[in-house]
Formats: sequence, structure tokens, C-alpha cells
Amino acid sequence: MSQYHIKSLEEYFQVYHKSVKDPETFWAEIAEEHFVWRKPWDKVLEWDFTKPEVTWFQGAQLNITENCLDRHLKTRPNKTAILFEPNDPKEEAQHISYKQLHERVCQYANVLKDMGVQKGDRVCIYLPMIPELAISVLACARIGAIHSVVFAGFSSTALATRINDCDCKMVITSDGSFRGNKTIDLKGIVDEALQQCDGVETVLVAQRIHSEVNMKKGRDYWLHILLDLAYKDCVPAIMEAEDPLFILYTSGSTGSPKGMVHSTAGYMVYTAYTFKNVFNYEENDVFWCTADIGWITGHSYIVYGPLCNGATTVMFEGVPTYPDWGRFWQIVEKHKVNQFYTAPTAIRALAKENLDYVKKYDLSSLKVLGTVGEPINEEAWHWYDDHVGKGNCPIVDTWWQTETGGILISPIPFVTPTIPTYATLPLPGIQPCLMDDEGNEIKKTKAQGRLCMKYPWPSMARTIWGNHERYRNTYFSAFRNHYFTGDGALRDSTGNYRITGRVDDVIIVSGHNLGTAPIEDAINEHPAVAESAIVGFPHDVKGTALYGFVILKETGAGRDQNNLRKEINQLITDRIGPIAKLDKIQFTPGLPKTRSGKIMRRILRKIASGDAENLGDISTLLNPEVVKEIKEHTL
Ligand code: WTA
Repeated sequence: MSQYHIKSLEEYFQVYHKSVKDPETFWAEIAEEHFVWRKPWDKVLEWDFTKPEVTWFQGAQLNITENCLDRHLKTRPNKTAILFEPNDPKEEAQHISYKQLHERVCQYANVLKDMGVQKGDRVCIYLPMIPELAISVLACARIGAIHSVVFAGFSSTALATRINDCDCKMVITSDGSFRGNKTIDLKGIVDEALQQCDGVETVLVAQRIHSEVNMKKGRDYWLHILLDLAYKDCVPAIMEAEDPLFILYTSGSTGSPKGMVHSTAGYMVYTAYTFKNVFNYEENDVFWCTADIGWITGHSYIVYGPLCNGATTVMFEGVPTYPDWGRFWQIVEKHKVNQFYTAPTAIRALAKENLDYVKKYDLSSLKVLGTVGEPINEEAWHWYDDHVGKGNCPIVDTWWQTETGGILISPIPFVTPTIPTYATLPLPGIQPCLMDDEGNEIKKTKAQGRLCMKYPWPSMARTIWGNHERYRNTYFSAFRNHYFTGDGALRDSTGNYRITGRVDDVIIVSGHNLGTAPIEDAINEHPAVAESAIVGFPHDVKGTALYGFVILKETGAGRDQNNLRKEINQLITDRIGPIAKLDKIQFTPGLPKTRSGKIMRRILRKIASGDAENLGDISTLLNPEVVKEIKEHTL
């Protein structure tokens, strides 16, 4: 039996049982057999959810890039590690072998060192989906610098907030990026952000679109020039198991974005293990995850998980609509992709288009299909199954979070059953539970409640950068001795989980986690706005879209409402990014509030969702009359 690669249902139950009964032995065996360490650990796990404090493989020393790169040099030096598919299908794809990737990472790492980056320093990476993005991430890990990748669709304000929050001393960017038939001036966005960031000493600029950009003397350097001078060898920094590997920001229901801190050894072991099992990865497979490396999905399942397994991982620079809606399937055919991993929102958008876009291509290489980021509706699930998988490819509906580092609940293809709309069973080592409103665990199998974890797993985030108290409050205070996910779920009579969605004010739009607070802050910056509240409402492509209720000041009263709507969305684009734009904006004289002044989002959510008849008891509101007014003018 191989507990590293589970092959049958019986094995799954055996392995799962062992992972719960004796988690330390289970993870120690996996860690020992499948990874290279510079020094073994003293203690597999220590944990206390009340503090909270969790350490895995304490005392061990390693470098994750030795696991992702060096060890493959003997066994598969010429195998493609990264398969880069450019935005323009006419531009040639790049096959970067393990040997070449190793060399390029080492050169990059030497450039970082030459520019004064040291172990523990934070480096912000703001790059499009080009090989330099993966290489910069690995180069940081090579020398023990902590990378903080910021999705290149975020605005300069959002970028500046993230740079300042973790005091990055360097930013790596490019002259610009290609997106379909557009180009984006990334360097210009960085320049704007850096007006607010005093701590940044150096900006490295990769060349991609060959545009004219401003290079600030003494601060900005072209990467290709520095790389030409750099050595192709770089001794990896020896890291402690619990040293931070990276910071990645995610939205909360209140306040500024949270810099989730992931540590080295546990993250490596868990992402590699789940990659192998959830995608049933075999040696010659070509794996493609369509996410951006700016999100956790890209960190774990484009970069670290695949490379730790010596896999071939596709990086796609473009968008699913360029040059037409067949692009994804054209790439699957061209590179004979075996595992394809995307978001439900992409599936819904593709399913709306003519089926000929799919039928035109040979998809017979596909073995496993995956989804992530939001609940997948039954219709989209079946479309994916019928037209992409042709009924032959198990769909892994993978549930996890930025905070969890890796997939926690998911089918294992060809091993455990798939059920439309269900993420199904916990992976080995994962102990989920459902909690009731009183804070007690629901013991009945068939149940609905708040999804928590009872026991630590290796890739859980260790803290929020600079704010451990917020980490404790957000995840460990709602239910004593449990990690609270913020999601609701139901469990069927055989123990399969179905995620029902967020139970807090985080809204997931097209699979992107958006906190309400930063968006409301952006809206409130408009000089004509007095107050605002945003909620999610069902949308057939985005899953959930944003609906804003806005109270205008007297100065805004006489203004053209459509112009105001445009200005508000422009402000949101400037402050956060286009992904956070509102689909609907309703101007209202008031917002429903409790007597303590809290906005009753539950009511707004129902109205926005077209369910205004079932508002429940609103008599306790401070201003029940406003509800009628809002209902009458619903968009
Ligand atoms: C949601 C993405 C239903 C969930 C990896 C979670 C899902 C949040 C699924 C985390 C799924 C993710 N089914 N909901 N398969 N996967 N979610 O941090 O609400 O961007 O809490 O991580 O997305 O989003 P994040």
C-alpha cells in the first residue's frame, strides 16, 4: 500500500484512519520518504489552538527549492518543468526543463542577493503570468527571502497597502503585461504605488511588452541586464521548518487585507501530497491549473505542489476569451493536457458560448478535471462532465482557502466517489466538523452547520503578518479549540460535505475573495456619498455579484445617477481593482439598521437577491420604514 499515492477506496479508508489515529507517524513517514531534508526534525507536531500556536517538523532544516528543483536534476533533468503558453497563440510556447529552471532560479537568486536581499526580507512580486513570476517566487525561496505576490490585476492603492503592510524592500515587476488584445502598464502602476511606499529600495523590471517605461535612477533595474552578469549556481539557504516561506493577502470581512503567513516544511509536504492524490498525477502527465500565481491556488498548484512532484506544470499568460472562446480547449489539445483545474465561474462563462468552441478540439488527453474557489452549481458541473470530460474524467470539487494552504476536502479521482456540488470527503490528515449556533459540535452525520477543523494539518497558515491577535480572533475565537473556516456546510448521511457558502461578510465574486469593508471604504470616498453597504446577489456567471446600496449627501442629490454609478465604479477600480466593481448600484435615503446602529446586511442580501417577501421580523429595526422604500426601488 502506498499512503503517498492512494489507489483504491479501501486504501483511502485505511490511510485516513491512520492519519487520524496517529497523525504524527502518518506525516512523518510521508515527509521522510518523499522529500529531502538537511536535518531531520525533533518533533513532528506541537499545537495549541487557544494561543494559537502550531509547529510542524520543528527542528528540521531544508530548502524547498532543493525539493522542487535540485533533486530532479538527477532523475529528470530534461523533463519540462514549466510549460509556458503565451497570451498570443502565434507566439511560441516555452518548454523550460528542470535543468534550465534550476539555472534560471539560481541566477535570479544571485541577482536578489547582489541587490541586497537577505534571508527574512520581504520581496513583493507584481508580475503577469510569465515564467519570471514562478522564477522570482522560487528565487526568493532559494535565498530564504519571504515572497509576497500581489495579483497583477490589483490597483496601485491595493498594491501600496500590501507593500507597506509587510515592509517589502524590493518590488519585482515587468514593463507591462498582455491580456487578450490589451496591454497593461504594470510599471506605471508600480511607480504610482511607490509614491506611498518609502521602504522600497529596489525595483527589478522584467521585459515583456517592450514598452517605454520610466526607470528611476538608483532604484529601478532591468532584470535581463542583471541576469546576464549573474552566476548560474546558488547554494540554497538552509531554512528552519517553521521559517516563513511567503505572505499572501486575503480579504477579511472587516478591516484591511490579511497577510497570511505560510511556513516552509509543512506547506511543502502538504501541497505536494495533495497535488499527487487530488490530481492523480503520474510521471508523464501535463498538469494545467488556470489560476493566476497571484492567488493561493497558483502558489500551491502551479508552483510548489507540481514542482515538488517533478511534474510538468502549464503557465498560461492569457485569458479564456482570446483570440476566441475556444482558447482553453485549444491549449488542452496542443499540449495534451491530462489534468485541468479551473474555477466554476470560468466553466459557467464557457458553457454560455457555442458548444462548437469545445467540440472543435481533441480533448481525449484529459483524465481529471478540477474546480476551486466557490461552490459549483449542478448545471455547470454536468456541462463540465459531459462536454469537457465526455463522462470519462472524474471532477474534483476541491474545497480550501488561502489560510489552509492546500486542498482539505475533495474527491480523490478513481478512488472516492464524486457527487455534483459536493466537495465530498476530507483528505487524509483532515478532521472537519460542523458546529451548531451554540458552539457545540454536531455529532449526527447528516447535518448542517459551520465548518470547522478540529486538528491541525501541516499547511495551515501560522499567523497574520504583524497581527497575531487578529489571527486568533478571526479563526480561533468563534469556537473554542477549533479552526473556523467562515464557511457553512452540510454533510450527508455518508459523511460527504457540501459547502454552502460564506457565513460572514466575505463575498466571493468569480472565485475572488472580496471583503466588504475595503469596497465600502472606496465608495465612501466619493464626495457625494454619505454611506454605503454592499452585499452579494446570485449571478449566473460570476456565482455572486456585488450590489451596492448608497446613501447620497445633499450635494449628490441633483446629479445624474448613471454618471455617479460610473464614478463610484471608477473609484473602486482605482482603490482595489476592476474585479471589485459593482454590478448594481441603488441610491437610497437610508439603510436598515439595528438599534445599536449596525447595518442589517441580511435584509439587504434578501432584497438584492429578489427574495424581498421573506424578510422575517423587521420590527426590531431602528428604521423599518426604510425597508419598504428600498424594496420599491430595487434594481
Ligand atoms: C470558497 C481559494 C465551495 C469558500 C482556494 C472558501 C469554495 C473561500 C470552494 C476561500 C469549493 C473555495 N466549493 N466554496 N470547492 N473552494 N471556496 O481564500 O468560501 O481565495 O472559504 O481560496 O472560497 O477562497 P480563497
